[in-house]
Amino acid sequence: MKRYELAKDLFFKEMLSKSSGFYLRVGLQHCLNVSAFAILIARKRGLDEELIGIAGLFHDIHTYTNMNSFNHAYYSSIQAKELLESINLVTTEELDIIITAIKNHSDKKITHDNYSECLKDADVLDHYMWGTLREDETDRTRKLKLETFC
Ligand SMILES: [Fe+2]
Repeated sequence: MKRYELAKDLFFKEMLSKSSGFYLRVGLQHCLNVSAFAILIARKRGLDEELIGIAGLFHDIHTYTNMNSFNHAYYSSIQAKELLESINLVTTEELDIIITAIKNHSDKKITHDNYSECLKDADVLDHYMWGTLREDETDRTRKLKLETFC
């Protein structure tokens, strides 16, 4: 998970230079939580833990560095792509997996590829933990309750 640690450095650098106050506080906690939950779910489902952990870190980066959540899944995928390309951390194929998961993560009622689903479920778990579930996330929460993670 060496690349994960490098991605985390990049994530912290971006957040600390562009975010502040409420957005910084909430953003750091949420993104780190989602990243950790995504790694746990990936372990259970046999997915690449490092790639989905990185996707978790950056999945809402646009929201917390621009303090604006409009169309944030799309804009976060663009920002994450630029950031990850700037340090040449992953291959083109790996970047595609990460970016696709980030881009899809807001569409909770649609089923996408395994990595997108893993990221969505991790996002929902964090919302569940803090009592901030949205109406379109309740079905997914019910399914997650049936799945054990260790
Ligand atoms: Fe999120």
